Amino acid sequence: VDDFTAPFAARAVVWAGPGKGLSIEDVVLDPPGPGEVAVRMLASGVCHSDLHILDDDWELPSPLVMGHEGAGVVVAVGSGVGRHPQDPRVGDHVVLAWTAPCGRCARCAGGDGHLCATPVGGDHRTSPDQVRVRRAAGTPLGIHCGIGTMATYQVVAAEAAVRVDPRLPATQASLVGCAITTGVGAALWTARVEAGDEVVVIGLGGVGLSAVMGAALAGASRVIGVDREQSKLDLALQVGATHGVLATDDALTTAAVRELCDDGPDHVIEAIGLPSTIELATRLVRPGGTTTLVGLTRTGATAALDTYRFVFSGSRIVASNYGSAVPSTAFPRLVRHAIEGQLPIDAIVSQEIALDDVEAAFDAMRRREGARQVIVF
Ligand code: APR
Ligand code: ZN
Ligand code: ZN
Repeated sequence: VDDFTAPFAARAVVWAGPGKGLSIEDVVLDPPGPGEVAVRMLASGVCHSDLHILDDDWELPSPLVMGHEGAGVVVAVGSGVGRHPQDPRVGDHVVLAWTAPCGRCARCAGGDGHLCATPVGGDHRTSPDQVRVRRAAGTPLGIHCGIGTMATYQVVAAEAAVRVDPRLPATQASLVGCAITTGVGAALWTARVEAGDEVVVIGLGGVGLSAVMGAALAGASRVIGVDREQSKLDLALQVGATHGVLATDDALTTAAVRELCDDGPDHVIEAIGLPSTIELATRLVRPGGTTTLVGLTRTGATAALDTYRFVFSGSRIVASNYGSAVPSTAFPRLVRHAIEGQLPIDAIVSQEIALDDVEAAFDAMRRREGARQVIVF
C-alpha cells in the first residue's frame, strides 16, 4: 500500500465471536482521521489475554480484529498530528499502547497517569462513529483496545503510537507493548521491588518472565520463579531468576519457598490470573510484605482470603494494571534498557510465526509451551 488518503487494504486476524474461532481476512481500513496515524505493522506478540478473548472469558464484542502487543512504522498521519513535538511522524518506529493516559485529567496532572480517568484506547471501537475497519463484504469490525495489532496495517490514535529507538528489532519491541511493560512495570513501578528484596513470581509466561526481569533489574537478592512447567523454570533462570520451584501442589510449593526465604518473600507477583494461584500468592508473602496481582481472571471471578490471618500479617495486596506505567515514557525507557543489554527480551521470544499460523500459536499456549510467539509481517 502507498496511498493512505483513501480506504486501503490489509490482512487481519479476526475473532468471529464466541465458539466461532478465528479467521485471517482481507479487510479495508479508513485513512487516518484527525488525531490518528496509520501504522504498517512489523510484529505482533500473541498474549494470554488474546486466548481469554477466544475463550469468551471477557465477553468482548465481536467480530473483533485481534492483537494488543505490537510494533510498526508510521506510514501516514491524520490532520493535527505533528503539532506537538512528541507526536509520531511518518517513518517513526512505534510501539502501540493498549491504553494511554489522556494527559489532561486531574490524575494525569497529579503525576498518576497510570490511573487516568479518561484514557485513550482500551475500548474496542465498536460504536458506529468509531468504525475504522471493515470486512471485504462491508461488515464493520471492532478493534481490540483500539490497536488490533494482528493486522498488516492499522489506524490508531496518535497517543497510542509511542515513538521508540528503531535499533531494537521489532520482534522484541512488539513485546514492550504488553508483556514487558506489564511484567517489568509490576516489579519496578507497582511492587517497587528494592535492591536486596526476595521476590517470588508465580507463572512464567511472557508476563511472569518479564516480572522476573524487572525484579532482577531492581537488584533483588533472590528471584524465585514458580511454574508447572520445568521448561519455564529454565527460561526464568536465563532471564534473571536465582531459583525455580516446580509447582505441583500448594503445600509443596510453600515448603520449597520457605526453604529459600524463612520468613516468606518480601514480594509475591502473581502472573497467571487463577483464583487458586492468587490465593496461594497472598499466603506465601512474608508478614508486612506485598502481593502484586497482575494476571487477569475471567470476568466475575473471585478469590478467597483468610481474613483473620491476613489482618495479623500486616501485608498488602496491590493491583498492577499495565505495570502502573505511562507508555509515552515507559516504552522508550524499556526499549533503551533492552538495547543496552539490561532486559533480555530475545530470550522470551520462543518462535517467530507468519500471520497464517496464529491458530497454532494459541494451541501451543494452551499446552503451556514456549514463552512468546511473535507474528512477523
Ligand atoms: N501453577 C503454576 N503455573 C501455572 C499454572 C498453575 N496452576 N497454570 C498455568 N501456569 C503457568 C503456565 O505454565 C505458563 O507458563 O502460567 C504461565 C502462563 O503463561 P502464558 O499463558 O504465556 O500467559 P501470559 O501471556 O504470560 O499472561 C499471564 O497475565 O495479562 C495477563 O491475561 C493475561 O491472565 C494472563 C496473565
Ligand atoms: Zn497482553
Ligand atoms: Zn488522564
